[in-house]
Amino acid sequence: MSKTIVVTGATGLQGGAVTRHLLDNGWQVRALTRNPKSQPAQVLAARGAEVVQGNMDDPASLRPAFEGAYGVYSVQNPYISGPDAEIRQGQHVADVARQVGLRHVVYGSAGIGVENTGVPSWETKLQVEQHMQGLGLALTILRPTAFMELMTDKKFSPAAAA
Ligand SMILES: NC(=O)c1ccc[n+]([C@@H]2O[C@H](COP(=O)([O-])OP(=O)(O)OC[C@H]3O[C@@H](n4cnc5c(N)ncnc54)[C@H](OP(=O)(O)O)[C@@H]3O)[C@@H](O)[C@H]2O)c1
Repeated sequence: MSKTIVVTGATGLQGGAVTRHLLDNGWQVRALTRNPKSQPAQVLAARGAEVVQGNMDDPASLRPAFEGAYGVYSVQNPYISGPDAEIRQGQHVADVARQVGLRHVVYGSAGIGVENTGVPSWETKLQVEQHMQGLGLALTILRPTAFMELMTDKKFSPAAAA
């Protein structure tokens, strides 16, 4: 439990929850962010995470953050950078995990795990999964359905959260 886990998207909803739970259970966390000075990043640092700078569009920036870690929790957001970037970033995380020899990758996927659903943000994740599987990584794929924040956060449901 003292092993180090890199968490991508650590300043966001999914990665933030993962980071908090790992820290609360005694793990060491490297919280990846593009901006270590941001308020969410500072909150993570105050809670005990090692905040590390990196951009999932730039694999070279990921290497220092990944080296020496045991595993990575990988999540990307297509609503920030677009679907092509989601796939590219997910592949970069997997590639660097493979290069530095991480022991376990946990991927925050979505959907039902089959192609041709017509849901873009599920289809992109299947492409990332296929890439990860092709690398032979020790891999756990999670498929969260709806976040509780859909009911409580105004950015998702203004009327319900008013
Ligand atoms: N909403 C739902 O009910 C639901 C259900 C299942 C699955 N999902 C999936 O969950 C994912 C979104 O997760 P979320 O809501 O946790 O996202 P989020 O809150 O928007 O957080 C996005 C995170 O990504 C980081 N980020 C963005 N671009 C980056 C880059 N180029 N390099 C490094 N970090 C980058 C941001 O960090 P910085 O800004 O600090 O760099 C931020 O921490 C999507 O793939 C979505 O399909 C959502």
